Amino acid sequence: MITFRAMTTEEFPAYCDYFVVDYADEITANYGYLPEKSHAIALKSLNEDLPQNLSTPDHVLLCIELNEAETIGYLWYKFFDNGETVFILDFIIFEAFRRAGHGQVALIALEKYLLESGVGQIKLRVAYHNKRALRLYEKIGFNITGYNMVKTLERS
Ligand SMILES: CC(C)(COP(=O)(O)OP(=O)(O)OC[C@H]1O[C@@H](n2cnc3c(N)ncnc32)[C@H](O)[C@@H]1OP(=O)(O)O)[C@@H](O)C(=O)NCCC(=O)NCCS
Repeated sequence: MITFRAMTTEEFPAYCDYFVVDYADEITANYGYLPEKSHAIALKSLNEDLPQNLSTPDHVLLCIELNEAETIGYLWYKFFDNGETVFILDFIIFEAFRRAGHGQVALIALEKYLLESGVGQIKLRVAYHNKRALRLYEKIGFNITGYNMVKTLERS
């Protein structure tokens, strides 16, 4: 059984460490920046998004639990549009627990919970190379709304 619980203040620093490394890797893969620059951008983004850490208004950070016994992932989302829309900033199932359907079950449970809470739409962004996440989101009914593009300019 998949359930959610609020992330604790004790767990938050480890979450931030994971998030910055993971996001920095994605920035490097997408934009070709050096790791140091990507790390700085990821850290800045985290600090700007969560100025009050776990108490930042409109932001929800959850641990995903399996059978109420162990934490198998994280989910971070924020409310906007007066609480009518949610944007997922981070969603991860730890590697050892992947490909067992937990990701899909977690997202469907989130949808149900949000719908009952008055939310009408969930938005998110998927990195171009992340085919697995893209497949999962499309499978449960997310539509693609556009593409982010970049071109690195080089002096000749
Ligand atoms: C994307 C992510 C959350 C998916 O989590 P997951 O628990 O592996 O998701 P699911 O198990 O529900 O589905 C993933 C795959 O496992 C397959 N699967 C599900 N149950 C299975 C089972 N019992 N046996 C074998 N495969 C199974 C699904 O068909 C799906 O296959 P596909 O990728 O070929 O389409 C996970 O890969 C992850 O954390 N990735 C890194 C972080 C990330 O990319 N997050 C998304 C950011 S936008």
